[in-house]
Amino acid sequence: MRDKLHIIREEVLDRIEKADHANDLEEIRVKYLGKKGELTKILRGMGKLSPEERPVMGQLANEVRQAIESALSAKVKDIEERAMAIKLEEETIDVTLPGERPLLGKLHPLTTVLNQITEIFFGMGFDVAEGPEVELDYYNFEALNMPKNHPARDTQDTFYINENILLRTHTSPTQIRTMEKQEPPIKILVPGRVYRSDAVDATHSPIFHQIEGLVVDKNITMGDLKGVLDVFAKRMFGDKTRTRFRPHHFPFTEPSAEMDVSCVTCEGRGCRICSNTGWIEILGAGMVHPRVLEYGKIDPSEYTGFAFGMGLDRIVNQIFGIDDIRLLYENDIRFLNQF
Ligand code: PHE
Repeated sequence: MRDKLHIIREEVLDRIEKADHANDLEEIRVKYLGKKGELTKILRGMGKLSPEERPVMGQLANEVRQAIESALSAKVKDIEERAMAIKLEEETIDVTLPGERPLLGKLHPLTTVLNQITEIFFGMGFDVAEGPEVELDYYNFEALNMPKNHPARDTQDTFYINENILLRTHTSPTQIRTMEKQEPPIKILVPGRVYRSDAVDATHSPIFHQIEGLVVDKNITMGDLKGVLDVFAKRMFGDKTRTRFRPHHFPFTEPSAEMDVSCVTCEGRGCRICSNTGWIEILGAGMVHPRVLEYGKIDPSEYTGFAFGMGLDRIVNQIFGIDDIRLLYENDIRFLNQF
């Protein structure tokens, strides 16, 4: 029996040594230490031994058992540690590698400034309205008091699609469209793209943006026009900004004016940006012509209104110091990333 125990010990320890999987170890445990295992069988045979031999063999069997158990658990631990080491090795992160910066989108400078402008007018109770870019001659000219052959049509080089359909040359047609379907009080802002067949250069693009404003109600006066636009200018360009209105002519407003703001760059002292005048022209405006109200199905003896139209691109270029309008339309990422 003693020899058997020694043989088993050698055999088992050897197998444990060679095992490299947790499953193998479990198999070994069952084969030798399990209820029907080899060692268990030997222990069962102890009854046949003499009373002197029994405790000696018992002790030896226990030692063998303990040797096997501790070899098993040492090996289990060893296998687990190796598995962990491999896993850690595989999952190593080199924190010194440079990161990959995700590409974030940005608002186009035109959008950023448009949002600022609409916020200011929202604050004064305006709503936003929109109209089509492909427009009828009727809304773009006729109903704005510019009948066929009116000389003012020549000042807006128009892309005609056919005799009656064109690309709108300004956002003013939306004045008529809004008046047709909405009773006063009307207080709207109309941002949008407009088209003129100008030769392209640093200050001209065939596509640009306007923001139209229209207010129609009882007792609206030129004082309301000046007040609203002066508040706008101060919110937009800063409290120190001054405004000035110069007489002008538009067929759809009477009287008409152009509004200048004191130059944002030099605060009116005169610089390159304002061509040394101290002023920058930013919009055209006036009291809505009674005939235009009539085209809009509004009674001019009951209501009056004012309207204005500003060039968004020009304002964006002022604010960001951009000297070429074409940059706004080329979508060069290197340019756009600067804003
Ligand atoms: N529509 C005019 C333009 O494009 C601007 C304007 C709008 C003037 C409203 C007066 C009133 O130049």
